[in-house]
Amino acid sequence: MVHPSSVKINEVEFFELRDIIVKISGIMFSEHKKYLIENRLSKRLIELKFTSFKEYIHYIKNNPKRDTEINTLINLVTINETYFMRERGQVDYLISTVMPALLAKNKKNIRIWSIPCSTGEEPYSIAIELHDAGFFSKASIEVIATDINSDVVETAKHGVYREGAFRSCSQSFIDKHFTKKGADFIINSNIKSRVKFNVGNIVSSKIIPLMGTVDVIFCRNVLIYFDFDNKKVALSNFKDILSNDGYLFLGHSESVTRVSNDFVMSNFGTGIVYTKK
Ligand SMILES: C[S@@+](CC[C@H](N)C(=O)[O-])C[C@H]1O[C@@H](n2cnc3c(N)ncnc32)[C@H](O)[C@@H]1O
Repeated sequence: MVHPSSVKINEVEFFELRDIIVKISGIMFSEHKKYLIENRLSKRLIELKFTSFKEYIHYIKNNPKRDTEINTLINLVTINETYFMRERGQVDYLISTVMPALLAKNKKNIRIWSIPCSTGEEPYSIAIELHDAGFFSKASIEVIATDINSDVVETAKHGVYREGAFRSCSQSFIDKHFTKKGADFIINSNIKSRVKFNVGNIVSSKIIPLMGTVDVIFCRNVLIYFDFDNKKVALSNFKDILSNDGYLFLGHSESVTRVSNDFVMSNFGTGIVYTKK
């Protein structure tokens, strides 16, 4: 039998797959993303020797190995765009205002959560700024970084980047914290060891016992991809995970307005921060 070099998705299959993806991850693909799904998954279907998306959907619904395949599916469809010091106004505010406020409360252990962390640029940027401002010697600070995509979490753990990841950084930021080897920039071990990575899903209730309580949440550039119900679930999970005097940062184009009544918004000039009511 001759196998095709690509597999086409029809409308019915697209809607069925889209419902599976949104139910698991919260990510809602609009109809014009049909070709993105087709492009990203076609190769996987061929690897599994399927000739239609119908067979693949049957497999992820019924096969005993479906959990492993669902993990692969999610890894293939997530959008992992990120870079160092993205939306830096919020990181600056963490350093100038949030950390001093938490320290003034004599917190023994301060936990900062970067979710979703993608390939690690966001949590490492946070760790670098905390390091440069001397906070690691003032308190026990944990930087925890989580993503649903197990592949990006593995990449993040290695801490090896290419030039494009530094589009928003000064040369001194790079020189101070990375070692160049060929085209690679390897994060220095004093920063790397400050970030603990794990795989987790913000729309699953399992994320609450996984994380315990944290003092700061950076959840940037993921809620824009979610449908309304899953935005609600994620924000409700954050309400449970965030300490009563904690801080929540969302991406510039994201907001809790009309989704959650559990947070109060404050504008600090270069960005917005939420605290619990
Ligand atoms: C565009 S990146 C954002 C990375 C970083 N926060 C930033 O702003 O640069 C979006 C990430 O969200 C992750 N993601 C999508 N759905 C998720 C979920 N339900 N739980 C955890 N991570 C999720 C994706 O795997 C992807 O790495």
